[in-house]
Amino acid sequence: MCSSCSFSHSLKLFLLLLSLPSFFSLPINAHDKKPHLNKTLQPNNMDPFELETLFKIMETVSSDRNWRLTNPTPCKPGSQWPGIECKQGVDNHVHVSRLDFGSNHFPSCKNTATFPSQIFNLPYLQSVFFYHCFTHTKTSLSIPPRISSASSLQQLSLRSNQALTGPIPPQISLLNSLQILTLSQNNLNGKIPDQLFTLTSLIHLDLSYNFLTGTIPNQVGMLRNLVGLDMSYNTLMGSIPPTIGQLGILQKLDLSSNLLTGSIPPTIEKLNLLVFIALSNNKLGGKFPKGLAKLNSLQYFLMDDNPMFIPLPFEFGRLLKLQELRLANSGYTGTIPQSFTQLKNLSTLSLQNNKLVGEIPVGLSGLSHIYHLNLSRNMLSGVVPFNSGFFNRLGRNLDLTGNPGLCLNGSEPLDSLKIGVGVCGKNNSPYMNKPLKKSQASPSHGFCLLFNLFNILGVWVIYLI
Ligand SMILES: *[C@@H]1O[C@H](CO)[C@@H](O)[C@H](O)[C@H]1NC(C)=O
Ligand SMILES: *[C@@H]1O[C@H](CO)[C@@H](O)[C@H](O)[C@H]1NC(C)=O
Ligand SMILES: *[C@@H]1O[C@H](CO)[C@@H](O)[C@H](O)[C@H]1NC(C)=O
Ligand SMILES: *[C@@H]1O[C@H](CO)[C@@H](O)[C@H](O)[C@H]1NC(C)=O
Repeated sequence: MCSSCSFSHSLKLFLLLLSLPSFFSLPINAHDKKPHLNKTLQPNNMDPFELETLFKIMETVSSDRNWRLTNPTPCKPGSQWPGIECKQGVDNHVHVSRLDFGSNHFPSCKNTATFPSQIFNLPYLQSVFFYHCFTHTKTSLSIPPRISSASSLQQLSLRSNQALTGPIPPQISLLNSLQILTLSQNNLNGKIPDQLFTLTSLIHLDLSYNFLTGTIPNQVGMLRNLVGLDMSYNTLMGSIPPTIGQLGILQKLDLSSNLLTGSIPPTIEKLNLLVFIALSNNKLGGKFPKGLAKLNSLQYFLMDDNPMFIPLPFEFGRLLKLQELRLANSGYTGTIPQSFTQLKNLSTLSLQNNKLVGEIPVGLSGLSHIYHLNLSRNMLSGVVPFNSGFFNRLGRNLDLTGNPGLCLNGSEPLDSLKIGVGVCGKNNSPYMNKPLKKSQASPSHGFCLLFNLFNILGVWVIYLI
């Protein structure tokens, strides 16, 4: 049964990844070292304690049917429970290795479902998923002080359970084989327990979209195997700990939409595999690290909505792999650095609502991948250096409005003048900005969005599958 399912796993994961940007998963089978399980199933020979534990879990979570009566052999092909995977152990018993609740085709969760801490009594369990499962009855992530799944559990994924509340318990440290911990989109609150950071096997940690408070513990630097770290959309305070620079193989860092203060720690320059960083919507200020240009794997730098109030650093122009650079609503001053025109792979540049002055660098018109350029609501001036080809390509994704000093070279064809900027020398003043009709969106926009989304996710799909 399971020797044939790794492909369908990969496909399932691929589809999940496509629909859920912040969801990480691993084809666990590939990393399957302990416990040693035999591939040939003997489905009727289930460990009686595990069988009874499974019935109790099912009764706590699902009321689809009376599982004891209708499906007394959970692992037996033909009458196997949905959302369960089993493996033959070397002890000649069959063991449950994976449980999946809430998603399509898996057991649905009843309104009175609560978190079944019995799962931690299943000694061969490797992966558990509860998606949109605890929705009506308040429940908490409780982990008993002694657990038998400690050495086997590699993936715990609890997502979109709005009735899952309370803190992350310190006993989380018992799950010392965890590689993937996803606690996203629940109602968890309280501080992130220091004990979480003893889980040094973690590859992906996702705590996003909860109500976690306090600071990001310094101990985060102990998670040396982390590839993805997401703590976005909480209410975390304090500064980004400098120990973050110890996460040497980190590829994705998302701390956006918190209350973080201070500046980006200089140690971040050590993260030279980082592909994606999002720090938007915090209270970060001050200077960028001197070694910013060392982050030369970066493709996405998203840092809108922070009180920066400094000149735009030219070092961004050295991050040649950048595809998206978002620095809007952050009080940036000075001119748009000439170095930005070297970012040949840039597809999105968002600099709107800052205090930028001077001319638009001519070289921006040579960025052949760009499809979204927002420079609106600054104090830019001079002649817009784009030709009609550029205007047509970007269509409504080009926004230059709210820069009273900008104007268009009057000799350009008039049908391109649909971007909210007046014609130089018209209406009495050389740099008079005159309101213009909205244009149609560029026909390629939908494709580009899709392409771009695929690019963001593609990085992870390639990595994980
Ligand atoms: C796996 O189980 C089969 C059937 O019971 C047995 O013949 C084989 O020796 C087992 N393999 C291992 C590695 O235990
Ligand atoms: C730009 O993108 C292309 C296509 O995705 C890629 O082959 C190339 O290596 C990228 N350039 C840089 C500097 O990363
Ligand atoms: C540009 O930014 C402004 C201000 O945030 C926003 O209102 C506008 O919709 C953006 N334009 C485009 C084309 O994204
Ligand atoms: C305006 O357009 C004319 C004709 O294409 C060109 O000669 C001139 O250099 C342009 N001026 C600027 C500032 O781009």
